[in-house]
Amino acid sequence: MRYIKIFDTTLRDGEQSPGASMNVEEKLHVARQLARLNVDIIEAGFPIASPGDFEAVRRVAEEIKGVTIAGLARAKDIDIERAGEAIKPAESGRIHTFLATSDIHLKFKLRMTREEVLETAVRAVKKARQYTDDVEFSAEDATRSDWDFLCRVTEEVIKAGATTVNIPDTVGYAIPQEFGELIEYLMNKVPNIDKATISVHCHNDLGLAVANSLTAIMKGAGQIECTINGIGERAGNAAMEEIVMALKTRQKYFNADTRIVTEEIYKTSRLVSKITGMVVQPNKAIVGANAFAHESGIHQDGFLKERSTYEIMRPETVGIPQSKLILGKHSGRHAFKERLKELGYELTQEELDKAFERFKQLCDQKKYIFDEDIETLVSEEVRRVPEVFSLVDLKVESGVGVKPTAKVRLQVRGKEVERTDRGDGPVDATYRAIAYLTETKSHLEKFEIKSITGGTDALGEVTVTLEEDGRMVRGYGSDTDIIVAAAKAYINALNKLEGRKRVPTKGI
Ligand code: KIV
Ligand code: ZN
Repeated sequence: MRYIKIFDTTLRDGEQSPGASMNVEEKLHVARQLARLNVDIIEAGFPIASPGDFEAVRRVAEEIKGVTIAGLARAKDIDIERAGEAIKPAESGRIHTFLATSDIHLKFKLRMTREEVLETAVRAVKKARQYTDDVEFSAEDATRSDWDFLCRVTEEVIKAGATTVNIPDTVGYAIPQEFGELIEYLMNKVPNIDKATISVHCHNDLGLAVANSLTAIMKGAGQIECTINGIGERAGNAAMEEIVMALKTRQKYFNADTRIVTEEIYKTSRLVSKITGMVVQPNKAIVGANAFAHESGIHQDGFLKERSTYEIMRPETVGIPQSKLILGKHSGRHAFKERLKELGYELTQEELDKAFERFKQLCDQKKYIFDEDIETLVSEEVRRVPEVFSLVDLKVESGVGVKPTAKVRLQVRGKEVERTDRGDGPVDATYRAIAYLTETKSHLEKFEIKSITGGTDALGEVTVTLEEDGRMVRGYGSDTDIIVAAAKAYINALNKLEGRKRVPTKGI
């Protein structure tokens, strides 16, 4: 049985999903859960991209033990130095350096010859080896590269000291059989291929990322790069939970498995979804709400007679719990903390105190408190950003034949201010008042609202996406009053924009 290494890039490529950026604390929460999931490598960020990314990689490297922590770097000295510095505190640190190898990228993006690319790649790997013995080289856009040139680059970077060579399908262009042939070609043609682990990193533009990754495993790939829930640039990356469960469920076919603690999969999926605000579609394999639901009568009948008639995996294997009624008004801080731990959240004392306070308020507003309610209010606490603006009070008037009016009181840079506005609806009136008081120049790109559990007393969660000078941020807010939730989400996003103004924009 071969063990395939799982290289999780949720905190780097996953974070490149539009609007999914995470701050340092959020990344730490996800990293702790990835460690419980037992991934082999966590790519925690791209240290040169921004001070926040550098800090995230450094903090993850400092705190998370028993897992290799990787930092991404272009094949440039400055990037490699920064990545080397960020992974320094890690028990086991990796520099992941990349350079494109396809003629399209060489001609239009890099304006380099193949010889120059080869030389630069070798130099980058040698430079990275000055910081760590664990160096990965990625041939960006490998699947649109000339196969023989890719073989040459692979051979030379291995000679230069790369211990992993990654073959990314950067634009999600590959077809499984063809991709398998490419991996086989490399395995047969590169003389020193046995000196490194061959990795693949597949994007999902044609919906084939998981299929391509599994085919690569059959042809000898020893590492898979993937993300939780398949989030990532454009259509995303290969979904980790799908690869892991395909290997587990069809172990005999693949003769391969991973070291993932599958019972932690569902929890991790929920956590990433909550923190990034990227909703998991109900029919998503493994972690979608309907993934284990049997609707048709014939299926239900067969299932009740013998589960295996219609079930190829047990929900318990991926840690899907029954939605539990938990805790109540009389629950103490200790029980609350323990439940949070079970849900994958480890909070600082300050976060815990605030979340507990919110929990107690919620107990007064809502009769039954479910895991989903707890997750919502805690993730709001985790996602909290330094507050330039905060909501002090909100009063709204609306109804049939009434022009909706909102009276908003905010604290703006330490000073209380108030404004009454009218709008097309209560949310519109509230947002107009907030926009006036904060003097924001941002545009509201998206407004989403959802109920966390059933019932008219359910928590409403609002997600807003704001755009300002080409920067996008998401804000979140939850409350049993949906207008208050909407106000909180808007203010949360405005605070994020303020925070971003203090750090340079990230980008490759
Ligand atoms: O998609 C890609 O090619 C990447 C590389 C940096 C590995 O994300
Ligand atoms: Zn990628």
